[in-house]
Amino acid sequence: MEAAPKRDTERLRGRVALVTGAASGIGRATVERLSAEGASVVAADIQDAPGETIAANLREQGARAVFQHHDVADETSWRSCVERALTEFGGLDILVNNAGIGDIATIEETTADDWERTIAVDQTGVFLGMKTAAEALKQSGHGSIVNISSIFGASGGFGTSPAYHAAKGAVRILTKNAALHWAREGVRVNSVHPGFIDTPMLQAAKGTEYETAMIDLTPVGRLGRPEEVAACVAFLAGDDASFITGSELYVDGGYLAR
Ligand code: NAI
Repeated sequence: MEAAPKRDTERLRGRVALVTGAASGIGRATVERLSAEGASVVAADIQDAPGETIAANLREQGARAVFQHHDVADETSWRSCVERALTEFGGLDILVNNAGIGDIATIEETTADDWERTIAVDQTGVFLGMKTAAEALKQSGHGSIVNISSIFGASGGFGTSPAYHAAKGAVRILTKNAALHWAREGVRVNSVHPGFIDTPMLQAAKGTEYETAMIDLTPVGRLGRPEEVAACVAFLAGDDASFITGSELYVDGGYLAR
């Protein structure tokens, strides 16, 4: 029998990754996947207890992982976070801007404060992350930024959640803008657009007509799993994606193909 092709299971060995929103859902799955592929990981989140546990579990398995308390809407916090990667692991190669908050209100119900908060976390957080990590990523020589947008960054969704849509749409185009700016400096920038993924963010919809609607609207007929998004982030983060920059990858069970 022909030998199976050799698979490099540690595509990210020697790389250092910083993942925001790492204490839950897609961020958690991403930390675990990048770590499984050999990366050293700074797991950053505002939720300390679950974040610490995730990093401790990875260390117990022999991985290099630390937790950093980090609010993506705060520029000072970003400086500390990038600094942590440099002092702990000696550099930074991969930045995953994943932290996000949802909103389900209509435009009439959305207050200016609600709007500002969603934009601060989901949009300004991505800007601050790319700006703060830029120097370290350029020094990497194979820097990769993966920004988590959404299917709602490229469609009107259910006609609700205006701040979320505005922020995710901004992340999509900001990704392309930064990709062009750094195209000759060894830093690739891509966006990932999850469809409906079974994470705590969708908790409120569990068992309701909204969950049924999300499944019905998804051509493959189910919600996605966080691990299915993490696998795509890992691909874009590493050298298998060395000629991909400024692109948008939909991980949505066919939602936007309709
Ligand atoms: P989640 O709610 O399970 O996890 C989000 C994490 O972000 C939490 O650990 C939370 O503590 C953290 N976070 C919130 N505000 C923060 C801040 N200011 N600074 C640092 N961390 C903060 O949600 P999920 O589903 O894993 O979402 C991850 C990303 O994927 C978000 O950007 C979300 O918008 C996006 N997304 C999720 C979809 C889904 O169906 N679950 C669909 C499309 C996009």
